[in-house]
Order: sequence, then C-alpha cells, then structure tokens
Amino acid sequence: MLARRVSHIKPAPTLALTAKVNQLKATGLDIVGFGAGEPDFDTPDFIKEACIKALREGKTKYAPSAGLPQLREALAEKLLVENCVEYSPSEIVVTAGAKMALFLVMLAVLEEGDEVLLPSPYWVTYPEQILLCGAKVVEVPTEEENFILRADMLKEYITPRTKMLILNSPSNPTGAVVPEEEIKKIAQLCLEKNILLVSDECYEAFLYDGDRFVSPASLSKEIREITFTVNAFSKTYSMTGWRVGYVACPEKYAKVIADLNSQSISNATTFAQYGALEALKNPQAKEFVQNMKKTFERRRDLAYELLRDIPHVSVVKPKGAFYIFPNLSHYSKKFGSDLALADYLIEKGRVAGVPGSAFGAEGYLRLSYCVSEEVIKEGIKRLKEALLSIP
Ligand SMILES: Cc1ncc(COP(=O)(O)O)c(C=O)c1O
Repeated sequence: MLARRVSHIKPAPTLALTAKVNQLKATGLDIVGFGAGEPDFDTPDFIKEACIKALREGKTKYAPSAGLPQLREALAEKLLVENCVEYSPSEIVVTAGAKMALFLVMLAVLEEGDEVLLPSPYWVTYPEQILLCGAKVVEVPTEEENFILRADMLKEYITPRTKMLILNSPSNPTGAVVPEEEIKKIAQLCLEKNILLVSDECYEAFLYDGDRFVSPASLSKEIREITFTVNAFSKTYSMTGWRVGYVACPEKYAKVIADLNSQSISNATTFAQYGALEALKNPQAKEFVQNMKKTFERRRDLAYELLRDIPHVSVVKPKGAFYIFPNLSHYSKKFGSDLALADYLIEKGRVAGVPGSAFGAEGYLRLSYCVSEEVIKEGIKRLKEALLSIP
C-alpha cells in the first residue's frame, strides 16, 4: 500500500553508518569512526543557556511559521554584514535544519518531470528529495583533479526542462570550493537559461587557506532574484541536533515556503530558535567558530598528508568543510564495490568511513575529520594497514 513516490527511498547512509559504528562500539569493539557529518565540539554554553532561559520563561508554545521575528531580523543582519546580500526579514524562513529548508524549496518550485542539475559527487540527501518531488536528477560529474564545478560542464546537461541547479560550496563530501569567478559564470548561465539556483551554504564557516566565502546572491540583483540561499546553525555553531536552519529568497517564494512549514511542522522548535538567536547575537560566537575552523584546518592538513602516503590512493586537498574524499578504487575493485570495501575496513581494519557510492562516486571513501588529531593518526594508520593487507 506504499505510495510510488517512496518506492526508491533509502535511509541517509551517513546516519546509517554512524548507527552501525555506535552499535559495534557498544559491543566493546574499538572502531575509529570517520563517518560523522557533525563537528565533535559541544554547542557553546552561552547558546545552551539562552535556550534554557527561554524554556524557563515559558517559550514553549507555537512560534510564527516563518520563524521568530527577532531571529529573522538577526538573520537579515547576518546576511547583509557577512554575506553582502540584502534580504528583508519577510524574505527569510526559519526551518527545521537546512535539510528541511532544501526540501521545502523543492516542494515549492519543482513540478513532475522537471530536471535538476546536481553536480557530483553530491551530498546524499539531494537526489532523494528531488525524486520525492517527482523531478529528475541530472548528475553533472566534476573532475577528480579538484572536484570544482565549472559553468562549461553544465552546458551539455541543460534542456528545456531544466528547472534548478544545486550548488554546494564548500562541498560535502569533497570539500571543494568553487572560486568566485566561476560562481559568477555559473550564476550568469542560470540567469540566461532561466534556471533557479539553490546555494547550500551550510559549510560557509569552514573555508581554509585564507579564502573568503562568496554567496551567489551577493553577485548581482538579478542573480539574487533566482537564488535560494540555504544555511543552518547546525555545522557553524555545532548545533546539529537543534534542528534550526533557514532559507532566504524573494518574498513570493518565501511566503509559500512559510505556508509549507505551517502545514507540515508548524515551526522550527520555539526554544531552539532562542538558542540560534544567541548564536547570532553573542560576540563570543565568532571566537568559537574561529577556533573550530582553525582546529579543522590543522586536522585537514594532517589527514591529507597521511592519506597521500598510502600507496595507490589519490586524494585532493579539500579547501573547505570537514571532509576528505580519497580515491580507493585500486582497492575497492578487488571487492567489487566500495560498499564491500567499507565493510571490510570496519570489520577487519576497525576504521569506518562512508563509501563514495552514497555520494554518486563509486570507489571513494568519505572521511570526516571531526575527531582529534590522535584519532586521525590512529584511524589512517589502520586504514593503511587494512588496505595493504588486502591479498
Ligand atoms: C551539504 C549539506 N546540506 C545540508 C545539510 C543538512 O543540514 P541540517 O542538519 O541543518 O539539516 C547537510 C548535513 O550534513 C549537508 O552536508
């Protein structure tokens, strides 16, 4: 009796892997887990305190479906100051994480048979959400050399049914960052071809080597009109479990997205929104984020150097996010698939990563460096030994 629209649906492989590793750990097995898609830092106390205060003050009722007015105002200010895009609060909708923001955007604009350009490797949830909306996933492969999407790569995939492009820079799973000049060309192409641009900016805080983050919507008034700027508190402030994200877009879309929110989840959890507000307002937050970023940058350097040292493994130095995506196809071929290799690594090597096929890239393994430097060293040592001991 299940609906056709859910016939293809799979659980998020990243969450499934974390569950499997936790289960094995609970039986006493010592496993190094590189699977988590969330910072290992705790949410800062000042954010927790703001939420506790809200709870004590009775902020436990429904909130406006588009989000608390003061949070939407603070987000408009953040987008102006940090991202150089002018959005009014009425163009911002607070959602239950970025995942829900993306889903609501797609529900609002995608029709049956529409085509969505999805650069690969891609984050696991995009294709599922596109399919749930009845649209078609059009994968646009990037090159292994750097995984950076270029406008010229898109051209051959554009048809009269192309409705949307999803841009995720810095990228999960590759950590690739699209340079500003290329973002301009990509956005310009979207304008010419009448394609909506979804910019998933979840990893904007994690950009390394002194690079500056660029929001496509900041590039011109016209580009802003076709862009959905999606972001969340999840990664930036280590608030993944709080479920607070948002989308900023022209009001005609924002209104419908707020209505979809109101008819599905009502609103993002009220007291969690007070925590999010504190993250934007408290000056200590900047320091917290900076510290986290510096830590991730050091870990990235370490993981990159160690992975490079493994025979027959090629790896691109990520420019952002907190993932590294080595190519292990030399080894996965011996197992027939990267899924089988990932299982072998967990069972024999006691080290866990997410197989590349989950991201549309067979033969790779996504390692998240949301673990200490000691754990990175131990985990990559185990990875190397396990790979080298494959007959
Ligand atoms: C690229 C990307 N977008 C969106 C999300 C979802 O974020 P949230 O936890 O805020 O829903 C994730 C989480 O892993 C992600 O990697």
